[in-house]
Amino acid sequence: MTDTTPAPGSPAQGDVALVTGGTGGFGRALAALLRERGVTVVLADLDSPANREVAAGLGAHFAALDVTDRAANAAVVAAVEAEHGRLDAVFLNAGIAGQSRHGLDVDEFLKVVDVDLFGVVYGTEAALPALRRAGGGSIVVTASLAGLSPMATDPGYSVAKGGAVAFVRSMSSRLVDDGITISAICPGFADTAIIDPLRDEFAAADFPVLSAGEVAEAMVAAWAGAEPGAAYVVQPGVGAVPYKFKGVPAARTASGETAVVPTALRPPSMR
Ligand SMILES: NC(=O)c1ccc[n+]([C@@H]2O[C@H](COP(=O)([O-])OP(=O)(O)OC[C@H]3O[C@@H](n4cnc5c(N)ncnc54)[C@H](O)[C@@H]3O)[C@@H](O)[C@H]2O)c1
Repeated sequence: MTDTTPAPGSPAQGDVALVTGGTGGFGRALAALLRERGVTVVLADLDSPANREVAAGLGAHFAALDVTDRAANAAVVAAVEAEHGRLDAVFLNAGIAGQSRHGLDVDEFLKVVDVDLFGVVYGTEAALPALRRAGGGSIVVTASLAGLSPMATDPGYSVAKGGAVAFVRSMSSRLVDDGITISAICPGFADTAIIDPLRDEFAAADFPVLSAGEVAEAMVAAWAGAEPGAAYVVQPGVGAVPYKFKGVPAARTASGETAVVPTALRPPSMR
């Protein structure tokens, strides 16, 4: 007989989830999966009648949010708590890509970093008090394979996503004692609007892309069972696998022994 009891921490009826960039491709697929499990879903995205309709069509709530507005992130979290009583999971998923293909367009670079990296930092700042009040919870950041492997066509995107992965890894140990897990998913190219400018090239090269549903499954799995600070690569034909970070060479003392990092600089779990 199949055990239908959700694993501890799994999304379940009564949970409340907030998804930034929530009316885009991944957000819509994720909302559908969470609604199937009875989760109350709030899709936060740039305000437009179309985005409000997307949320309503999925049985989700809509919150107008530009993730680059630090105060607005806090206001949305406060509104979610006021309306739904709690917050259990936050998917920091809003993102844009650069369009320039050559040289360095610093204005575009800054715009991408503002949304894709600072949007994650502001979203985390806003969510943490609410997750603590709920007794713990989960933050899942949508980074990208471009954060682990350089993306020559979009340096701003690579920097922002690499920064998001570094943020997740460096924040994670600070949150463990509060029962809050922060993790990242790093999908390869997936079939959403963000790849529209590249779509013909993928088709011409017969290059496989992920479905939004495959990525959404990885996002749900990260809520339910991610290791703190983990980054999950999602690739066509591979599924979601934890990325193994290579360690860096340790410092050596004058006598050639491995130097011991000062206690105060170690993650709390290693002190
Ligand atoms: N599709 C891919 O190939 C792919 C691969 C790896 C990572 N990602 C990342 O996945 C995330 C979701 O993208 P998607 O593939 O669903 O694309 P998408 O374009 O369908 O969705 C992105 C969403 O983010 C929203 N958004 C953009 N700027 C915003 C802002 N300032 N404030 C609030 N919302 C904003 C958009 O309105 C849109 O709904 C992004 O972070 C993207 O970088 C996508």
